[in-house]
Amino acid sequence: MSIITATNIECKDYTIHFNSWDQLSTSINNNNYSKVICIVDDNTQSHCLPILEQKIQKQLNIIIIKSGEKYKTIDTCTKIWKEMMNLGADRYSVVITLGGGVVGDMGGFCAATYMRGMSFVHVPTTLLSQVDSAVGGKLGVDLDGYKNMIGLILNPDAVYIFPEFIRSLPNRELFSGFAEMIKHALISDNSLWNEIKAINPLTHDDWKEDIFKSVYVKYKITEEDPQEREIRKKLNFGHTVGHAIESENLKYEFPLLHGEAIAIGMICECHISHQKGILSIESLAEVTQVILDLYDRHPETVAEKENIISNTRHDKKNKGGVIKCTLLNALGNAIFDQEISKREIKIALEYYEGL
Ligand SMILES: NC(=O)c1ccc[n+]([C@@H]2O[C@H](COP(=O)([O-])OP(=O)(O)OC[C@H]3O[C@@H](n4cnc5c(N)ncnc54)[C@H](O)[C@@H]3O)[C@@H](O)[C@H]2O)c1
Ligand SMILES: [Zn+2]
Repeated sequence: MSIITATNIECKDYTIHFNSWDQLSTSINNNNYSKVICIVDDNTQSHCLPILEQKIQKQLNIIIIKSGEKYKTIDTCTKIWKEMMNLGADRYSVVITLGGGVVGDMGGFCAATYMRGMSFVHVPTTLLSQVDSAVGGKLGVDLDGYKNMIGLILNPDAVYIFPEFIRSLPNRELFSGFAEMIKHALISDNSLWNEIKAINPLTHDDWKEDIFKSVYVKYKITEEDPQEREIRKKLNFGHTVGHAIESENLKYEFPLLHGEAIAIGMICECHISHQKGILSIESLAEVTQVILDLYDRHPETVAEKENIISNTRHDKKNKGGVIKCTLLNALGNAIFDQEISKREIKIALEYYEGL
């Protein structure tokens, strides 16, 4: 694929830079920002901030938040906004979000709303955020345990992807991000699916090209349909059931990670595709096997089926109470806005439970 020869992806109003410390430091140094605020969580503070500090000469004002999805809330935003105020941030300051999807979604949301909006750039540090959340402009926080209920769509000034950051990621987080790579392949490209299914994340050491190809899928789709009117809905494959499982799990002390829930969601939504007669039994079996080889089975996470089905009511893709879902009609092709029933979801959850 010719895209691999390119180093950056030029989006309409911003650029996704790969491995470009020079570009990042030049941009921060030359832009005469009144303050440079860097939002980290307690893990990226220790693993990633020292690397960034070596590369950027400007003084960074650090805001540290607690790590984890349960802190992706308006309460944490209030703390961030107050710290920005105490640091004297103004509309001419810039925010660098240095972290995974939680820091990126929430830090970007805080920057986009503080004083009606200031500049921000994403420096994603997890596999998931590098291939997915840092691109496409979705920003926001959870509400009462329901995912991403408050937010907006706004692109950053730039995204800087440094695959080296994922070296310090715990394995579970690596696999969580890999689920979105599986999704990108399944919805867009059969040959990418064949490449992805051959990867063992534990032994794979050169991720640069794979990250590039995966984020390119996200970029192409979100550039064509930034407001999610049509084709962007394809990216929600695995997420109707996956988010519902993730929300149900948030109440436990050790909940599933986002990608772990999405992996289960993809199996279930492949099963719904099969129930509807649009995906073959062989394709369902193939996806199920690839995912089960990578992710531990967690039948207990789908035990509360009625709660999970009820959670799908809050899905942002629904219209007039009808549950709308993205399904697969081939391994490498997705169709969106498919109406699914509670019964189909229940049967799919039972399929996963019985594996
Ligand atoms: N905006 C979007 O389009 C979009 C898309 C997909 C997911 N998301 C959101 O992204 C979030 C999930 O993102 P995530 O998986 O990156 O989660 P995360 O931000 O919670 O990061 C996962 C864990 O890894 C730690 N970490 C981050 N970078 C590290 C590094 N380099 N070394 C060691 N530890 C590191 C974090 O502290 C955290 O504990 C969810 O809230 C999800 O809703 C958003
Ligand atoms: Zn996701």
